[in-house]
Amino acid sequence: MSNTPVITIDGPAGSGKGTIAQRIAKEMGWTILDSGALYRLVAFAAIQNACSFDDEVGLAEIARNLPVTFEAQDNNIVLALLDGVDVSQSIRSEKAGDAASKVAAVISVREALLQRQRDFAQLPGLVADGRDMGTVVFPNATLKIYLTASAEVRAQRRLKQLKDHELNDNLASLISDIQERDARDMNRKHSPLRPAKDAHEIDTSDLSIEEVVAKILSFYKSH
Ligand code: CDP
Ligand code: CDP
Repeated sequence: MSNTPVITIDGPAGSGKGTIAQRIAKEMGWTILDSGALYRLVAFAAIQNACSFDDEVGLAEIARNLPVTFEAQDNNIVLALLDGVDVSQSIRSEKAGDAASKVAAVISVREALLQRQRDFAQLPGLVADGRDMGTVVFPNATLKIYLTASAEVRAQRRLKQLKDHELNDNLASLISDIQERDARDMNRKHSPLRPAKDAHEIDTSDLSIEEVVAKILSFYKSH
């Protein structure tokens, strides 16, 4: 819906998009589009169906027919169900993020997901997080935000998230994974990761979640 207010939050892995999007959506009483989950689900379904990441036609078919539903929980967490099965945890790993960034470079996959993402824009409003929310999916968004943070800070955040889930990894390999994914997302031909011309950039390296949320809400109030 073109008269629906939309706040887009783009940026690289670990810049805080998901956390901040959830907080803003709660504050405004709006819904959320976690567009990265869609790319993670396409990669997950491709692996389940033994579809090669080189098979562009097969990947596009999977993206077009993705049997996904999102279910909002009371605690503001959104579950991703594939064919009714909760796969939210399985798609969160760094390996799943890496697989997502490979299928996300395929133009026919992006085209297949475009309208599905735009359909999330419903009153009273939408907070959309991803890589191309402000540049391609919602070019007329009410407010566009581009979050950044150093690769080291982002890897530290990932390490902490993994530890909270009792998973182990090491900082050096997380930094190199993040840098590799940044490079793939920024240098791809279709919808590369970059700030929209009219986006407000916020470096979150030294900011708390509350400080970032407050900045975005003040941008929204004065837009
Ligand atoms: O969605 P994205 O990968 O951009 O990041 P995220 O998963 O929302 O954030 C990664 C982690 O960084 C989370 O555990 C957040 O709590 C944390 N974070 C932070 O410590 N300070 C911020 N300003 C933003 C996020
Ligand atoms: O949370 P994090 O930033 O680590 O990843 P995500 O937002 O779940 O996205 C996973 C991957 O999907 C990214 O590395 C991108 O390659 C791709 N993606 C994309 O191309 N376009 C989007 N709008 C969202 C994600």
